[in-house]
Amino acid sequence: MAKKLWGTRFNKKTHALTDKFTSSIAFDQRLAKYDILGSIAHVKMLARQKIITRKDGQQIVRGLSSILKDVINGKFKFDPAAEDIHSNIQELLNKRIGAPAHKLHTARSRNDQIALDIRMYLKNEIDNLAEFTAQLQKAILKFAVSNSKIVIPGYTHMQIAQCVLLAHHLLAYVEALERDKQRLCDAKKRIDSMPLGSCAFSGTGLSIDREFVKNELKFSSLTANSIDSVSDRDYIIEVLADLAILSVHLSRIAEDLILWSTKEFNFIDIDFSFCTGSSIMPHKKNPDILELIRGSVGKVQGDLSSVIMLMKGLPTSYNRDMQLDKPPLFDAIDAVKDILEIFMALFANIVIEKEAIAAKVKDESLFSVDIVEYLIKKGVSYRQAHDIVGRMVRDCLDKDKEISSLNEKELKRYSTKLKKDIRGILNAWASVNLKKSFGSTNPKLVKHQLAAWNRKLR
Ligand code: ARG
Repeated sequence: MAKKLWGTRFNKKTHALTDKFTSSIAFDQRLAKYDILGSIAHVKMLARQKIITRKDGQQIVRGLSSILKDVINGKFKFDPAAEDIHSNIQELLNKRIGAPAHKLHTARSRNDQIALDIRMYLKNEIDNLAEFTAQLQKAILKFAVSNSKIVIPGYTHMQIAQCVLLAHHLLAYVEALERDKQRLCDAKKRIDSMPLGSCAFSGTGLSIDREFVKNELKFSSLTANSIDSVSDRDYIIEVLADLAILSVHLSRIAEDLILWSTKEFNFIDIDFSFCTGSSIMPHKKNPDILELIRGSVGKVQGDLSSVIMLMKGLPTSYNRDMQLDKPPLFDAIDAVKDILEIFMALFANIVIEKEAIAAKVKDESLFSVDIVEYLIKKGVSYRQAHDIVGRMVRDCLDKDKEISSLNEKELKRYSTKLKKDIRGILNAWASVNLKKSFGSTNPKLVKHQLAAWNRKLR
C-alpha cells in the first residue's frame, strides 16, 4: 500500500482488509484528469496568495502537468494499492518533484477535492449526454422525414385505435428526448458551482482566493456554505433522476420497435447487422439489442435508488459512505451513453414494411371517430353520433360486413345524416387529413413540425 496521506498519527499499519475495503481507486481513477486540473488551479492560487513560494508553485504545476499528459495519453498507470485517486496522484507527484509536492494539499481536504472532481466530471458528461441525445433526435428525425408519407394504425391500451402518421409517432420520441436534454442542461446550472476551499467542512484560516480558483476552472459561481459543499450529493441524485427518466423513454422506444418487428405487427424490419439469432431455432432473427436496451434501463433505475438510499440517513457533513455514490453514477452514465449510441445506429438500419402496413390500415374500425365527427359536423350531438356509429360498428362486426359496403338505404337506418359520401373518409390518408387541431397528426402540421425540428436540431 502506498503511503497514506494521514499515516503519521497511526501507530500501526492498517490491516490489508481495511485497505482493500476502503480503497476507491478501482473506480475513481476516471476522475484523474479533473483531479489534476483542480490541483493545478489550486496550486496557482496558493502561489498567488503567497501561501507557498512562486518557485514551489511552478514546480508543482510542472509536475502535475506532466502527470496530466500521461493521463491524457493513456500512459498513466494507476496504482492499485492507492487509497484513492487523490492519494495516487499526490504520491506520484512526490516521486516526480520531491519536497515541493508536500505543499499541494495546503488549505484543502479530500472532502472538497472529491466534490470538485465530481462537479467537473459531471459538467463535461452532461455536455456529452446532451450531444448524444441530440444525435439520436437527429437520427429519429431523419428516419421520420424519409418515411413522412406512411400512415400506421395507432394503438391505445394496445388495441387498434386510429390512424396516425408514422412521422407523428416518431416526433413524439423527439419531443420527449428534448425534455430529457433540457432537464440535464438544467441540472448543470446547479452543478456549476465551485466547492474547493470548503476544506474538510468548515473552511480554512489561510488566506485563500476561492474566486480565482472558480475563474481558473470556469465555474459560474462559488458554493456559499462549506458544510453544504462537502455534505450534499443532491446534484448526483438529480443527474441520476434525469437519466432514469431519459432511460425510461429509451426503454419505451425499444419496446415499440420490438413490437413493431414481430410477425404479428410487421411494421418494420431491422437489418441483420443489428439482430442476433437463436442457437436452436434456425429461423430466428431476434431484436436482442432492443431487449438489452430495455434491460439495462432497469439498472439505471437501480442506480438512482442506490444513491438515494445511500444519502437518506447520513448526518449533515462529509461521511465516507458518499464514496459509494460513484459506481452507480458512472454505471448510469455509461449505460445511457451506450444506449444512445447504439440507438442512433439502429435507426439508420430500420426498413418500413410499407405493404404490410398498408394492409393493416384497411381495418375500418380505425375510422369510427372520423364518422362520429362527420355526424357532429352535420349537427348531430356527440352522444347521438357515438351511439349511431356504435350500432353500425356492432352490426358490421356481427354480420362480418365492411362499413364501406353499406348502401344508402342501409346507412339511413342508422341516421338520415349518413350519406354514401362517408366512403370517401374511410381510408387512412383521408383520416389523417381530417385532423385539424394544432399538435395533431394532420400531414401539413406534421410537415411543419418536421421542418421546425430540422431547424432546431441543425
Ligand atoms: N474517496 C472519498 C469519496 O469519494 C473522498 C476522500 C475523503 N476521504 C476521507 N477520509 N475524508 O468521497
